[in-house]
Amino acid sequence: MIPLTVPALGAEELAAAESVLRSGMLVQGEEVRAFEAALAARTGRKHAIAVASGTTALELALRALDLGPGDEVMCPALTWPSPAHAALAVGAEVALVDVDPHEWNATEHDFAVARGPRTRAAIVIEQFGNPARHRPLAGALDGLKVIVDAACSLGAAYEGQPCGGHGLIACTSFHPHKELTTGEGGACLTDDDAIAERLRVLRNHGQRAPGQFVQASGNYRMTELAAAIGRVQVDKLETLVAARRALAAQLREVLPRDAVQHAPAGGEPNHQTLGLLIGAPGSGSAARDRVIAALRDQGVQAGALSYALHRLPQLREAGARAQAAGRTLVHAADLVDRGLALPLFPSMTEAQVSALRAALARVLAR
Ligand SMILES: Cc1ncc(COP(=O)(O)O)c(C=O)c1O
Repeated sequence: MIPLTVPALGAEELAAAESVLRSGMLVQGEEVRAFEAALAARTGRKHAIAVASGTTALELALRALDLGPGDEVMCPALTWPSPAHAALAVGAEVALVDVDPHEWNATEHDFAVARGPRTRAAIVIEQFGNPARHRPLAGALDGLKVIVDAACSLGAAYEGQPCGGHGLIACTSFHPHKELTTGEGGACLTDDDAIAERLRVLRNHGQRAPGQFVQASGNYRMTELAAAIGRVQVDKLETLVAARRALAAQLREVLPRDAVQHAPAGGEPNHQTLGLLIGAPGSGSAARDRVIAALRDQGVQAGALSYALHRLPQLREAGARAQAAGRTLVHAADLVDRGLALPLFPSMTEAQVSALRAALARVLAR
């Protein structure tokens, strides 16, 4: 079976983890600080604040920006639920935003129609490592607090600027499905000194300095073990992304052009996920489900692409509000119905690429 993904871990990560274990210093040592410095340098940011997961990063970002009850936060409707869950967790109201049928991200037009008088913030998602249209978005989101969900987009770039470098705060994830992994992990990236300080306090039980508790907060820290692995991975990011891009190009050759994700002008994706749409727009999920089963029969693991947030019980009300305001979220729903994720990982062998291309050609010809 060709798996959907395989984390790119080797001898260097093993050695880094072993050295932390031998040191006995498992938390709050030098590794987290060094990992943060490397991340900040790689994304062109002044500050990186490493935390326990991408979801944690989003929640802390919203808290650091004082978003809460009475505030409306815009969030694209096609995604893993974390950004919307984070907004709900701080007591904010979610305004769901449709996405572009080609780029699979919310564009400036999607955000502009969703923006209302109570909107205070926007979460801009770089879905599957496809950069958002940051230049036109800056106009549409002017005056709002912009958080970029860069969970999938480290190593990608927009107009030459590394992803993770956009927004008041960018949040990234180091889950094993991402291009850079620490097992579990995440980070907030920002250029603002005061926000960085608030994030560091929030991450560490609300302490400004050891024993100086200034507000109620939990423990959202990253371990030294995770950071040591992350340091090795940051150094490999360029190579890992280059491998993904080369493999994605080979695989996309056998896929219909209108069935894959398109980069915006100036965008250089990292292909964190290789998505494919099955059937004509509006045709539902039956054909997609048949393709997933047929690929499985050919030794290829494929899975459903993503989630339509307005279909989740905790976001149904947000979906109803969007519909009542005339936002049908039709593209998000259609991409979720027809979308599947294909295997793509940097260590994919030539034999696996050939087998995958052949299986796709056979299954898609039916
Ligand atoms: C767009 C997006 N945001 C946030 C997350 C959450 O990251 P984590 O799994 O590290 O909490 C994910 C993870 O899949 C994601 O894809």
